[in-house]
Amino acid sequence: MTDSSTSTDSRVTGENARRILRRDPNPHLFRPISFRSVTARNRIMLSPMCQYSAQDGMPNDWHFTHLGARATGGVGIVCTEAVHVSPHARITPHDLGLWNDAQRDALARIVRFVSAQGAVPAIQLGHAGRKASVGRPWEGSIPVPASDGGWNTVAPSALPYADTWPTPAALDRDGIQAELDALAQATRRAREAGFQIVELHAAHGYLIHQFYSPLSNARTDDYGGSFDNRIRFLIDSLEAMRSEWPADLPLFVRLSVTDWVTGGWTVDDSVALCQILKARGDVDLIDCSSGGNDPRQQIPIHAGYQVPLARRIRAETGLPTGAVGLINAPDLAESIVANGDADLVLLGRGLLADPHWPLKAANALKAQNVTWPVQYERSNIF
Ligand SMILES: Cc1cc2nc3c(=O)[nH]c(=O)nc-3n(C[C@H](O)[C@H](O)[C@H](O)COP(=O)(O)O)c2cc1C
Repeated sequence: MTDSSTSTDSRVTGENARRILRRDPNPHLFRPISFRSVTARNRIMLSPMCQYSAQDGMPNDWHFTHLGARATGGVGIVCTEAVHVSPHARITPHDLGLWNDAQRDALARIVRFVSAQGAVPAIQLGHAGRKASVGRPWEGSIPVPASDGGWNTVAPSALPYADTWPTPAALDRDGIQAELDALAQATRRAREAGFQIVELHAAHGYLIHQFYSPLSNARTDDYGGSFDNRIRFLIDSLEAMRSEWPADLPLFVRLSVTDWVTGGWTVDDSVALCQILKARGDVDLIDCSSGGNDPRQQIPIHAGYQVPLARRIRAETGLPTGAVGLINAPDLAESIVANGDADLVLLGRGLLADPHWPLKAANALKAQNVTWPVQYERSNIF
């Protein structure tokens, strides 16, 4: 990762560089950032958000409009919702998928538009594991049985998410390999569709998180038990992705940095994991989320509540981080980047409510390097 605004050549070093930085008129939030060969125009990323609006995993005009509007709204990195690697990997029957070429080609249309607006197109790949086969939020987010169009779920162990949820089938070795193969094929299709960043969804109680958290993994083979065994599926997943993802393109990982449950996965565990990822060199940013694997979780929710997680991972591992969670005020977003808590700020609901949040934040923070789409110039009155 390089910070384009702070990169120096042999003539611009030390105190000289600091003086130039002090003179830089643009807020930190609007300084470009590079990961491998990819440069984003600012530090704002659209957080992945399921739209529950697909049929058979296919993107449609809703997804085109939703992602396209955030690109025209000035977002630096426009990330899709969780796109699932196989039909049984979906959270709901209405989630996006990438298990066939028609899905790839429909995503490619969105990629072309997002890129044409100056944003970097990113895709989140996911597998819901034991939390698959549920209804949409407006249908209650409760398990859908196979008799109603749902399906049987898989997980590291035959442990349900909650007492009222169905018990998943524990994956055997062939099953694990099949999931890794599906992930590699989805990654290949993501590359063919033209995405420039791929994010592995390893958070929120979905399949990969189920493997690394001791709360959901009771295996006795080399995918369970010790810390090294529980993170093995995540490491294998990264290897599967990197086998199909070019070395010059970045790969992000979204982690649940803590389970927020006594006896669960902790921030210390995440630091240890990220030190391993840093040494391996295949991951470019940790997107620091939390929770989702156990209904007993106690999350202290307030503005910027997950920023300390991003700060700690960044400080103790040297890996770039993304901060997410109730970061809706431009000043807060700016201070997170300026203080070095995180390299990117991700907005979810704030960008659902207002696709032009970045353009308005640029005005509020007096950025001089942001232009509105010419079609919208006359609305630049905020
Ligand atoms: C409607 C909705 C759908 C979401 N879908 C996903 C998803 O597909 N993948 C994911 O990692 N997080 C998902 N999230 C979590 C968001 O990406 C984000 O982490 C969370 O909403 C906190 O950020 P915010 O306060 O800016 O909304 C979703 C959140 C919402 C509100």
